[in-house]
Amino acid sequence: METFALSLNASFPPSTLHSSFRATKTTKPNLTAAKPPRAAASDGGSSGDEEARAQQKGKKPLHEIIFKPLDNLISTFNSSHLPSYLDPEHVLSGSFSPAEELPPTPCQVVEGSLPSCLDGAYLQNGPNPQFTPRGPYHLVDGDGMIHAVKIAGGEATFCSRFVETNKYMAERDLGYPVYPNMFGAFTSKITASLLLTAARILTGQFNPFSNGVGTANTSLALIAGELFALVETDIPYQITVTENGDVATVGRRDFDSPESFQIMTAHPKFDPDTGETFSFRYFPIPPFLKLFRIDSDGKKHKSVPIYSMKNCSFVHDFAVTKRFAVFPDTQIAIEPIEILRGKSTMRVDLQKIPKLGVIPRYAADESEMYWIDAEAAIARWRDGCMGRTATEASRFSWRGRGRRRRTMDIWWPVKLPRRVPQGFHSIFVKQTELLKM
Ligand SMILES: [Fe+2]
Repeated sequence: METFALSLNASFPPSTLHSSFRATKTTKPNLTAAKPPRAAASDGGSSGDEEARAQQKGKKPLHEIIFKPLDNLISTFNSSHLPSYLDPEHVLSGSFSPAEELPPTPCQVVEGSLPSCLDGAYLQNGPNPQFTPRGPYHLVDGDGMIHAVKIAGGEATFCSRFVETNKYMAERDLGYPVYPNMFGAFTSKITASLLLTAARILTGQFNPFSNGVGTANTSLALIAGELFALVETDIPYQITVTENGDVATVGRRDFDSPESFQIMTAHPKFDPDTGETFSFRYFPIPPFLKLFRIDSDGKKHKSVPIYSMKNCSFVHDFAVTKRFAVFPDTQIAIEPIEILRGKSTMRVDLQKIPKLGVIPRYAADESEMYWIDAEAAIARWRDGCMGRTATEASRFSWRGRGRRRRTMDIWWPVKLPRRVPQGFHSIFVKQTELLKM
């Protein structure tokens, strides 16, 4: 048994519990072997239909004959002279090395006994590629995996499950990756990757417009009483925690949106007083920003387009008060056109004056929105932090947090059955909330 420990301290709020995951040993599993394919592909049907028809005739489908060797060729070419932050060997090393799924497994309480009032599930989301990546791979490209510790009746149960996104299921059925790594593949030597992706879409191998491309690998949130895994390149995937501690994917949810709804932030804000969830999406085509809300019944309302944001920047998160929503317009610029020059779509623009945008949270339009220059607040990003060295930045930031972390008293150490890879965001969901799902 490997020696990862989850230590629980009742004096800390649940959101801080993730800092007590400790690694003392890491191993790197072979992720190349795929699970057995299911009977039909889940991504829009066209790829699965094509495959089934081809198998009936004893022929290989088009993507096996043309796209797969072409993909191998491009990946091999793109793999030469990779910078460390796009090299899978480097990115997926140490505490970032991925893990395989693990069904619910009892954990040993090493010392003391878990109190009965500690009742619910602690879940962490993070990228964990289903297959060993080929070619350039960025830290944020991996398939979402949920690691859950269910605590009930003084016992703890650990479980790791992939979020079964359309991407994950389609690739699992095929036995190899077909979706582009959104950050890695489009960051270097782009043209061939872009053309191959376009060919896959045009031949129906996957449909990003109706099924999304997201990995659901960033965060977890309660929206209208249901639990979701989120990434900001797609809409949320509903998940659930079963009574025995397993994690299951319910499906991709558009919240009965009255308009086209393809992406949203991974950091929506829940108002416990009204049951509403406020959210937004940012996008590299105007309007660069849209604000919207999902009501307590889980219904999404029409969004408010914000045209006064003049360029697309890395917004990522926002704040909501009783009356307002507050957005950062940062110095991290997003420029997809840079893909064609083989450069990152993100860069730091130190000439830009960062701003905070304030808008009434129930605004019908942006007429009451105003922007405040905020040089001191947001200009502290290090040059290249997100544009070129996200992996390093992530590690730097964790080391930084470690220096500031206060000492914790460990009350009830629990030994997990295996190591847990580094993740992004986490949540504690009380049993009373799980029972309502
Ligand atoms: Fe985040």
